Amino acid sequence: MNGGVTDWTGGYVADVNYIYGYYPELNPMRAQLALCSAGIVTPNIEVACELGFGQGLSINLHAAASDVEWYGTDFNPAQAAFAQQLAQQAKSHTHLFDQSFEAFCQRLDLPDFDYIGLHGIWSWISNKNRAVLVDFIQRKLKVGGVLYISYNTYPGWAATVPLRELMLQHAEFMGSEKQGVIGKIDAAIDFAETLFAVNPRFASDNPQVGARLKSLKNQNRNYLAHEYFNRDWSPMSFAQIAQWLAEAKVQYAGSAHYQDYIDNINLTKAQQELLASLPSGSFYQTVRDFCVNQQFRRDYWVKGVRKLSALEKREQLYEIAVVLTQLRAGFEPKIVGSLSEAKIQPAIFNPLLDCLADNKPKQLGQLVQVLKNQKITAAQVLQAVLLLSGSGALQCAQDEAAIQSARKKRIP
Ligand SMILES: C[S@@+](CC[C@H](N)C(=O)[O-])C[C@H]1O[C@@H](n2cnc3c(N)ncnc32)[C@H](O)[C@@H]1O
Repeated sequence: MNGGVTDWTGGYVADVNYIYGYYPELNPMRAQLALCSAGIVTPNIEVACELGFGQGLSINLHAAASDVEWYGTDFNPAQAAFAQQLAQQAKSHTHLFDQSFEAFCQRLDLPDFDYIGLHGIWSWISNKNRAVLVDFIQRKLKVGGVLYISYNTYPGWAATVPLRELMLQHAEFMGSEKQGVIGKIDAAIDFAETLFAVNPRFASDNPQVGARLKSLKNQNRNYLAHEYFNRDWSPMSFAQIAQWLAEAKVQYAGSAHYQDYIDNINLTKAQQELLASLPSGSFYQTVRDFCVNQQFRRDYWVKGVRKLSALEKREQLYEIAVVLTQLRAGFEPKIVGSLSEAKIQPAIFNPLLDCLADNKPKQLGQLVQVLKNQKITAAQVLQAVLLLSGSGALQCAQDEAAIQSARKKRIP
């Protein structure tokens, strides 16, 4: 958008700051449960990096509550200043910069990373910046390390691309500088509504776009500025991402969105059968994205995927601890997939929630052991844990030594 272009932004909206959001998908601890249940070796994560941390809530919470040493950058100086202030107050010794990706990725004083995360970045930057990030991942992610990356994708975004283009053009050609970014966004949405009110053929052929437009009207304008009004905005299919990331020598390892692991809430029986007939890999992901009309992917990639043996997988899964971050009393879990709300089986969920009702960490092995007496299998426990974690009611917990060490780090 014209008003947002200043020298250092390269077309990224910068005169409206990003929202203050926390994104659990960026928590390295989440990778352990996802990768372990997929039977993939997870590294011990000691040094991590977040690229484009926005207001820095996620990186600061992750740094303050763990022993992981965090590095990160976001080129918006107001956001970087807020993030640095949080880090100072938390005494977390986090290394936060206001450098562009290009400048940060060339620094010679950075360590190699066990984990690199970028949430809400890839789709909104130029191909030149994408190449910078891929080169960084190739050089700085340790072998065995985990990349977390989220991005807008197809086919979920396909029908909305022209609406975004229309609003961007309205802002560019019909907006005036004195409106400011938010004024231009409001005017662009109003115009799109006026256009849809005269029933253009595009709207009747793509009825879901009208619904999207309606939902835009109620969304936070700062979010909309960053989501829709950047010069660069490119949803990409899984296959395109795979092509980009091949240069960084990483392989797809699974989803950070735990609900994706439960087919029954995302896929019909017929879709599951069709997918079962395909080899796993890029084409499988493409077909699955069609089945769920995927719009936003949150993926883990690993540099050098290694498989766990069945025994190792069980041992490592059983050591993972989870904690209920919800009061048990009156809690009714709601699990939503792309197909439906999952039917919660009270015979499994109630005893599991009862075990966790004291809101203290419990290892999966402990839960399996206790619930065995109630004829609940280990696979059912794991599925219920993934579903509850995906809904935000459960979080992975650190072991006692890591908790004490994180505490000591900050208590003078
Ligand atoms: C959509 S926001 C996402 C922020 C954060 N990851 C989150 O999810 O809350 C994208 C962020 O990337 C930053 N950004 C965009 N291009 C950048 C670049 N070339 N170098 C550094 N930061 C950049 C922006 O300032 C913005 O804060």
